[in-house]
Parts: sequence; C-alpha cells; structure tokens
Amino acid sequence: MAYDAVLKRRAFGQTERRDTWWLQPIVVFLGFGAFIAYSTWAAFQGDHYHVGNYLSPMYSPEIFGASPHAWFGARPGFWPGWLPFSPAFLVLWAPAGFRLSCYYYRGSLYKAYWGDPPACAVGEPRKSYRGENSLPLIIQNIHRYFLYGALLLIVSLSWDAIKSYQFEDGLGIGIGSLVLTLNAVLLAGFTFGCHALRHLVGGGLKSFAKNPLRFKCWTCVSGFNRKHMVWAWSSLAWVGFSDVYVRLVSMGIWTDLRIL
Ligand code: FES
Repeated sequence: MAYDAVLKRRAFGQTERRDTWWLQPIVVFLGFGAFIAYSTWAAFQGDHYHVGNYLSPMYSPEIFGASPHAWFGARPGFWPGWLPFSPAFLVLWAPAGFRLSCYYYRGSLYKAYWGDPPACAVGEPRKSYRGENSLPLIIQNIHRYFLYGALLLIVSLSWDAIKSYQFEDGLGIGIGSLVLTLNAVLLAGFTFGCHALRHLVGGGLKSFAKNPLRFKCWTCVSGFNRKHMVWAWSSLAWVGFSDVYVRLVSMGIWTDLRIL
C-alpha cells in the first residue's frame, strides 16, 4: 500500500513537503533572469564599456573594438556589414556557456526554469524524464571544453585588474581598481572550484600516493569546490556590478575616487 503510494505519479507541483521549497527556484529564476537580461542589454550597447585604464569584464578580452584596450582593429573584416557589432559578441559566449553548463547551475536552473522537478519530492510537469541522455540537455556535456576557455579568461581578467592600477599619471589605486580586482578573484574562485577541473587534476588515478603534486592540486580545487555555489553567485553578481561601475563612470554619472 505504502509502496504503491510512493510509485503513484504526483501532479506538477504536488508534494507533501511543508517547507518553503518553492522559494529557492523563484529566487534563482529572478536572479539569473535579471543577470541574463542585463548582460544581453550591456553586450548590445557596444559603448561605455571602458574608461581610462578600466575595461568591463563583459568585454574582456577586447579582441576587436574601438577602445585603447583592443588587440586589433575596431571591427573585424569578416563581420558582415549589415550585422550590428559589439566587442562583447566575440567573448561573452564563452563565460555564458561555462556558467550555463556548470554542474551546480544545472541543478538550480533545471529546477527554476525546466521544473523537472521544481524541487526534490515535488511533482514534475513531464511524463518521462529524458535528462542529459538526449537533446537538448546532452549538450551540457560540453562543459569541460568551456572550462579551458574560462581558464584563459581568468588570465585576461587578471591582466585587466593589474592594468587598472596604471593611471595616466602613474601607479595608483581607484575604487574601480578594487572593483576589477575583486571581480578577477571571485571569478577565479568560481572557476578553480569547477567539478570538471577537479576531475582534470585528480581524476583517472588509482592512487594519489605516487602523485603528490596532483594530490595538492586536487585538494586545492576541492577546497574551492566546497563553496562552489557561493563563488558562483557572488562572481555572477560582481561581474554585473563591475560592468555597471565602468559604464556609469564612463558616462560621467559616477566619479571614480582615487584612494592613492
Ligand atoms: Fe561549476 Fe564547472 S561545475 S563551473
């Protein structure tokens, strides 16, 4: 009898849970949705993404662009003339793909956007769960490749953070320097705790005893991994704030205070 009751399919949202299980999916839905909306808007602007020695992390590295931070010319020759261009289009897909395919985000985004299930022990909307064995979710297995791109981005963002201390009149510290430095630190903490990186440095071994260096790396990545959710959300919020900061200073709405 009890066994039959367990097997009986619940209707969507039906549950015996008495806690506020719905709160987390709603917060994730609104928080992540707000970030996606803002970052898409910011990417399409194509201006006010740099000011002096500061470059917005949403435009870094600036491969092509009109700012002094750009590696090459203002607009790539291969870009169709009829298509709007923004330097962010060339880079933003990499961190976006890395985040969307992150193992932690998958768990929370599936609940918040896919509703499959909305939470543990809560009825789901579909009759069968196809999971990540078939399209479209099987694409998520690409995460390990996005990791390589994310590691390169950490190098680029760290370089931007260093450059943020080089003002026209010499070395100094502005509020923006601290904003961009914290941004690089938070994104590094998120990236260094990646499950795929943990496997990369410590997986495929029968014993750590003969690989002390890999054991140290694995221990380090595991340390970041323990708070992966915290790194994920704090870095997401700070990337958004960093872009807002550079944008408003560039527009003359905020003044960047020099501490030194
Ligand atoms: Fe979250 Fe790789 S698992 S970034």
